[in-house]
Amino acid sequence: MGSIPRDKGPDTHSLKLFDADELTDPPQTAGGVVEMPSTFRKSAFDGYPVWTENKSKLIQQYVYHFIMVTHHGTYIDGFAGPQVEEYNDDSWSAKRVLEIKPPWIRRFMLCDLSPAQVGRLEQLKQERRDAGDKRKIEILGGDFNVVVDSILTPDNIGEREATFCLLDQRTFECQWKTVEKLAAYKSLSKIELFYFVPVGWLNRAMSRTTKQEDKLRAWWGRDDVDIVRNARQVDVAELFVDRFQRELGYKKALAWPIHDRGSEGRVMYYMIHATDHPQAPKLMNRSYWKSTKAAEPMAHTQAVLEGFELGGAPLQGPPAGE
Ligand SMILES: C[S@@+](CC[C@H](N)C(=O)[O-])C[C@H]1O[C@@H](n2cnc3c(N)ncnc32)[C@H](O)[C@@H]1O
Repeated sequence: MGSIPRDKGPDTHSLKLFDADELTDPPQTAGGVVEMPSTFRKSAFDGYPVWTENKSKLIQQYVYHFIMVTHHGTYIDGFAGPQVEEYNDDSWSAKRVLEIKPPWIRRFMLCDLSPAQVGRLEQLKQERRDAGDKRKIEILGGDFNVVVDSILTPDNIGEREATFCLLDQRTFECQWKTVEKLAAYKSLSKIELFYFVPVGWLNRAMSRTTKQEDKLRAWWGRDDVDIVRNARQVDVAELFVDRFQRELGYKKALAWPIHDRGSEGRVMYYMIHATDHPQAPKLMNRSYWKSTKAAEPMAHTQAVLEGFELGGAPLQGPPAGE
């Protein structure tokens, strides 16, 4: 694959001032990479990896906004144990998504390879049960690259089910064939993917992995891994954006930077958000901006999203009792 042309505008790096209208605008991008003038506030918790906290808030905000439109959803997390390997951590995405109110996501499938992490997920499920949460929460132990086949069945996910899948790998654990299976599963409107590319330590990890070329190739899904090995961070993000659109057929993919800390922080991850919904990048933009703020009252969000249609996702009423 050759290099990807970037549509560099005249002023793409300038600071854009925050204002309310911007929340429903599409993000500023260059070559499929979102350009953000500033990022999240610092962590309130000393010693916590702030990028972990940021990404879990972003996922929570986005899924929250999305279900305001769909009123339903299924959530898959392939690498679901807490990053800090500590129970009840506030930066844990699975925990945050389970806590979204109203509880319109009706099914969760949470997978992890590590038995200790599976134990933490089971504990989280028990906590939900103790709080009266009766939704389907399935904890799946094993390699997600294998488990994915048992998840993607018509009994679990129907064609019309709005479905999200978080692929928050540490480095190279998520094989490309797994991403392909998720992308190919639904035809009406593909499973929305949040795929993490850990550019902050990718170069170091790749040089350490020279003896595990097979693992790298399975992650990249092709033999030309050297393209990634020799690329700048932003170019790696663009390569993935291009592959999600061209090879996997997503209507839109964007790379969202997750910074270390503050506006000066370096990019630790790019989160590739792949979607078939034309308006979804606006929702993600809104979620990105709102991630460190308290959730808005639902009525306000619904008013803002009035007229907002997610192509392909059927609008359904809330579950009985909501
Ligand atoms: C970066 S952490 C996930 C962080 C989590 N999403 C959070 O919000 O805190 C990656 C997790 O993937 C798990 N893991 C590693 N390889 C895996 C595999 N092949 N299949 C499933 N889980 C795996 C690890 O045990 C670890 O819990």
